[in-house]
Amino acid sequence: MSGFFKSSIGRKVAMALSAFFLMFFLLQHLAINLLSVFSPEKFNEVSHFMGTNSLVQFALQPVLIFGVVFHFVMGFVLELKNSRARNISYAKNNGAANSTWMSRNMIWSGIAILAFIILHFIDFWFPEINTKFIQGDWSGLHNGEFRYFHELQEKFVNPLRVGAYVTAFVFLGLHLAHGFTSAFQSMGATAGRKKTLQTIGKAYSIIVPLGFIIVALYHHLNHNH
Ligand code: HEM
Repeated sequence: MSGFFKSSIGRKVAMALSAFFLMFFLLQHLAINLLSVFSPEKFNEVSHFMGTNSLVQFALQPVLIFGVVFHFVMGFVLELKNSRARNISYAKNNGAANSTWMSRNMIWSGIAILAFIILHFIDFWFPEINTKFIQGDWSGLHNGEFRYFHELQEKFVNPLRVGAYVTAFVFLGLHLAHGFTSAFQSMGATAGRKKTLQTIGKAYSIIVPLGFIIVALYHHLNHNH
């Protein structure tokens, strides 16, 4: 088995499996974030549940963090192997003729998303870990009210942060535009339904980043002090 994951196809399969997992995570993350637009109360309730439920905190969250790190590390390994292989260059290499800009730049859109995740963890994840695990406050309350919605709005006051987030979501869209179908292709699932998967992939890679953009802009334009 470990031999399989050291092979080139094994690495692509591992990359695809972690991609499926992350694409599913993105859908649920967007669904919860969209709640903050439609119902601050529901958003607070769900955030409190996700932030304090033992199964989510101590089983799903570690698996998610592993999935994120695994996908990045594997992505870098694949890129390194590919660029080494490319050193024995083709007689005529005209990338644009047989591949898209997105597919040739997965590493760069990936690095942009990695930079976003670091910023995002500083913004949301580390303060959450601090409140719960260092200060030991699991109540989710601030001045007698749930704090999650207010904390979210505070983050989107600064236009520079909103700009950085929106830029990152555009890179996320470019990454997904190639990544979605590529993941299915690595699993051999495209035979006979390539067109359908491409259509779903296109829709996913536009709708999901756009959803995140709407959340960020909505809170920037609607925060109340
Ligand atoms: C407007 C857009 C977004 C908002 C408002 C948002 C909000 C949040 C919040 C409030 C948390 C803290 C959860 C907690 O630990 O209690 C969080 C965690 C996280 N976010 Fe986002 N997020 C956004 C977009 C994204 C995107 C696009 C990605 C991935 C590319 C992402 C990846 C993550 C990850 C990996 C975590 C840590 C997961 C966890 O806590 O279990 N987020 N986000």
